[in-house]
Amino acid sequence: MKISGTGSVLPKKVVTNDMLSEFLDTSDAWIYPRTGVKSRHVISDERLEEMAIEAARKALEDASMQASELDFIICSNVVNEYITPQLSCIIQGGIGANCPCIDINCACAGFIYALHLAESFYKAGSVKNVLIVCAEEPTRMTDWTDRRTCVLFGDGAGAAVLTPGDNIKGFSLSAASATDKLYQYRTLQPTPYITKQEQDVPLQMKGQDVFKFAVKASSSDITKVLREQGVSPDEVDHFLLHQANLRIIQTIESFLEQPAYKFPVNIEDHGNSSSSCCPILLDECRRQGRFKPGDKIVISAFGAGFVSGAVLLEW
Ligand code: ACO
Repeated sequence: MKISGTGSVLPKKVVTNDMLSEFLDTSDAWIYPRTGVKSRHVISDERLEEMAIEAARKALEDASMQASELDFIICSNVVNEYITPQLSCIIQGGIGANCPCIDINCACAGFIYALHLAESFYKAGSVKNVLIVCAEEPTRMTDWTDRRTCVLFGDGAGAAVLTPGDNIKGFSLSAASATDKLYQYRTLQPTPYITKQEQDVPLQMKGQDVFKFAVKASSSDITKVLREQGVSPDEVDHFLLHQANLRIIQTIESFLEQPAYKFPVNIEDHGNSSSSCCPILLDECRRQGRFKPGDKIVISAFGAGFVSGAVLLEW
């Protein structure tokens, strides 16, 4: 398969570090050097499903494709206001498609897992055109009185249209269960029979553990996929990494002994929008004309679970 179109949408409300310090005991002087984030786009009056539909429409337009030509929609989403129906079904109706669809929840690694799933559909010969949409609102998961988490995140939606081709060269996926490092609970509806203790807990994160996992998992995924495809890091033109923390990106840069210009970033004014980060960055780089035909691109992400993955593709 190959990526034939991309699209992305960000909420209009921009929240700077200085705006956060109006109600939190934090500052730009703390946040920026430790994370690389200066501002983020935060949902206010938008609905996530509408942003997802708009990102999908943009990707279809970019691929010069009608929604009716799609054979499958995969949506990566951790949380949205609907528990059911799945977001991919809402997107299907919104864009006027009539194909089957499925949601996955692979946290921030969702775009890589969605590409891998799509690849298996292509290998089975069951699809021609696939739409992936990653739509996330992590700002609705954090406690906005917790300066350790809420400063990191932003919202957004990114989409990619896939068509037949051989531009995707290989994947490396991994998972290592660690449910106490990064998690959120929510209570379900009460029943007359529930006797266990339940509570709503906003996103909890052991930041330094996540940092270490992220560096180790992404470095290992990238090394593995490159080794398997016989490609050296020097031959890769662009590394699009999950935008969780600029220091994580820089540590992976050093590990791979590659120059910073190969690692495009948008974390400074987007923050971490979970699985949407990679397709939004892909869309922005593509629209800026950064990719030439034949360029080798590695996309790599990690997230709660823990899960992680890397994909090597040729533009
Ligand atoms: N403003 C001011 N002070 C703060 C803030 C803040 N926003 N956040 C934490 N602090 C304070 C803490 O309270 C602590 O103070 P104390 O020593 O008095 O208790 C001090 O700063 C150090 O806190 P640490 O948590 O140890 O800070 P650290 O250097 O580890 O940086 C950070 C925290 C930026 C979160 C880092 O651990 C990190 O980036 N981890 C990875 C996070 C990540 O990638 N998350 C992914 C999220 S989800 C996903 O993408 C899958």
